[in-house]
Amino acid sequence: MRRELLLLHGPNLNLLGTREPDVYGTTTLADINAACEQTASAYGVGLRAVQSNHEGALVDALHDARGWALGVVINAGAYTHTSIALRDAISAVKLPTVEVHLSNVHARESFRHQSMIAPVCVGVVAGFGWRSYILGVEALLGHLGIARDALSTSGQ
Ligand code: DQA
Repeated sequence: MRRELLLLHGPNLNLLGTREPDVYGTTTLADINAACEQTASAYGVGLRAVQSNHEGALVDALHDARGWALGVVINAGAYTHTSIALRDAISAVKLPTVEVHLSNVHARESFRHQSMIAPVCVGVVAGFGWRSYILGVEALLGHLGIARDALSTSGQ
């Protein structure tokens, strides 16, 4: 049985740690990936992390996830606000997807208030720094009905 999540990071998130630390904090992408992996593993679930600065590569990663993922946690970065292609890919693959942001996008510039992908996601977590990702992973697992104690997972 497939028991893995896709953690998908969009443009500029490879620079986390040094990128505008006052906005995004000093935690690196590697740290975030490790923390999410640890969270998922407490539920008996694996996690594959992918980062790309290219819209098409993110679409490809979503298509690929059809073959193996239970669901997706995505920080699409600036593509959140612009990408109909990512929205269509999320709709097309029909994997439950949680949108996350480090910053509170609603407290920032107005162009960050709109998300192209939120309407096709299960929900959105924003504003909690690296913890947004942990909350996103836990929210996705809850949505999937996967309990922390793998033995009590429903449907097994
Ligand atoms: C972001 C918010 C976006 O508006 C921005 O373009 C990013 C990061 C966040 O995690 O807060 O690249 O997705």
